[in-house]
Amino acid sequence: MTQPPSDFRSDTVTRPTPAMLEAMVAAEVGDDVLDGDPSVGRLERIAADWLGKDGGLFVPSGTMANQIALGAHTRPGDEIVVQRFAHVTTFEAGSAGALHGLQSMTVGSLEGSMPLEEVRAALRPDFIHCPRTRLICMEQTHNVAGGVVVPMEEVQALARFAQEHGIPMHLDGARLANAVVASGLSARAWCAPFESVSLCLSKGLGAPVGSIIAGSESFLERARLWRKRLGGWMRQAGGLAEAGRIALQQGVERLEEDHRLATTLAARLAAVPGLGVAPERVHTNMVMVELQEPLPAAAQASAELEAAGVRISPMGPRRLRIVTHRDVGPNDGERLIEALQSWVQRHGSPV
Ligand SMILES: Cc1ncc(COP(=O)(O)O)c(C=O)c1O
Repeated sequence: MTQPPSDFRSDTVTRPTPAMLEAMVAAEVGDDVLDGDPSVGRLERIAADWLGKDGGLFVPSGTMANQIALGAHTRPGDEIVVQRFAHVTTFEAGSAGALHGLQSMTVGSLEGSMPLEEVRAALRPDFIHCPRTRLICMEQTHNVAGGVVVPMEEVQALARFAQEHGIPMHLDGARLANAVVASGLSARAWCAPFESVSLCLSKGLGAPVGSIIAGSESFLERARLWRKRLGGWMRQAGGLAEAGRIALQQGVERLEEDHRLATTLAARLAAVPGLGVAPERVHTNMVMVELQEPLPAAAQASAELEAAGVRISPMGPRRLRIVTHRDVGPNDGERLIEALQSWVQRHGSPV
């Protein structure tokens, strides 16, 4: 029997655990749009409590959670200040403009931070000719920057600035749980500076589908309208909600294992000539690998490693992103290292 591939493309590829499948089958359900689904309601309460917010809404995806927040905080013609490489800027198909008529002012670099001075410079004056700066949007952990944890001091400095100017902050916390485990700070502490937070249950936490968008009661009133407008309200979604509840209740502490594997992979790959890896930037479950000249580009590497049974996504012309998760372990890690080492040897180590 051929060995299944070792899939390091994303932490979204995990299969539901036996505990999730059991809970899904046993879920109590109702029509969430008509008069409520008890399992959805329970998940929303548990998640909101974990995040330290008044309430939360269960929605199909992280993209929808973010877009609900953007709609709820803004009006067409407003401007948002958002990290240059954030998911909202890079991977949501222009929805800020297409759905909400927003202009995005992007700040920061590939390192993932949002320097206060850049945010300050981005703030619009109260002037008839300018759009209004309506929202500051952060991401934690930062995906494109390699799963780094944006430091609490940076979050707090931005929060003070935002408060001084009466601008709400939204957190794309798709991988907030990874930041919680890596930092030792609670989800509540990370979320306190934000008016709204999105949390993905289907990334490292391992649920098959679903995200939560959480915030204050007044935010949720507007968020419900946007969930309706975007078609994100589901009916007997209790089975999915139960999988999400198990993910949140059983999936957080386990992330430590993913972080440990990523740290090991980074240390080993950093020793391979031709691969640029910065182990000190591996904070959570991702490792970015730069393919140095004269190695071929990332797309070719990804295709050739696939043939060797190892799946890794390109994240730029010469950059690979390795993501650890519940469904890959130390044996998959060894397989990845061997496959990458022999790929580098085959294509000639650079001088
Ligand atoms: C930081 C971040 N935010 C939001 C999302 C969107 O999640 P979804 O794929 O569920 O729409 C992702 C997905 O990878 C992400 O990495």
